[in-house]
Amino acid sequence: MNRIKLAIFDLDGVITSTTNEHFIAWSELFKKNFGIDLSPELEVRTRGVSRRDSLNVLLDHYDLAVDEKKLKALMEEKNEHYRSLIETFDASDLMEGALPLIEYLREQGVLIALGSASRNAPMLLKNLGIEAFFDFVVDPAGKKGKPEPDIFLSAMRHFELEASECIAFEDAVAGVEAINRAGMFSIGVGDEDLSHADLHIKTFKALSLRKIKGIIQG
Ligand code: BG6
Ligand code: MG
Repeated sequence: MNRIKLAIFDLDGVITSTTNEHFIAWSELFKKNFGIDLSPELEVRTRGVSRRDSLNVLLDHYDLAVDEKKLKALMEEKNEHYRSLIETFDASDLMEGALPLIEYLREQGVLIALGSASRNAPMLLKNLGIEAFFDFVVDPAGKKGKPEPDIFLSAMRHFELEASECIAFEDAVAGVEAINRAGMFSIGVGDEDLSHADLHIKTFKALSLRKIKGIIQG
């Protein structure tokens, strides 16, 4: 019997790479509205972070204050641009090794959930052609964003499981922190410094089936 019953995947930067598209949309927004060229190192600070929180990180960095109406308008403008950039995404934009891993976990009887902060996740899953692989997609609306654990806990509670029965995959510092706070086994994916993850892999290719089998069997 598997000890692990549920695997929760982040989307952006784990299943597909939308990092550039998000940051291009933020960059154009700041250029157009404030005449500012966003510093490239700000990108990692918006990774995994909700749209509103990301905007606040960027505004704070440049000491800009806007009222709620303007904040909403900026979020809307960024999102429209971002959606136009991901419109053409399809199965060829899947991160290498992500789908084989999901398929393997399903074969092993592990449930699969999506734990993304993005409101665009359902559209992106559809474009990537992988909706059918997910037993549950967390709706981030009204939930505290990462690094708070709420998004991951919501998937766990949906299936009435314990944290010790869940693993989760993340590319962002805030995301790994959220998994850890949820009390689940965290797997950091990508080049960032994710030394706070229980396991850090650069790509899915680095995760052998033997290794993942060992993790899910506990
Ligand atoms: C996360 C991204 O997955 O979703 C962040 O890493 C983004 O960059 C956040 O801000 C919210 O996404 P959206 O699509 O709802 O603006
Ligand atoms: Mg991510």
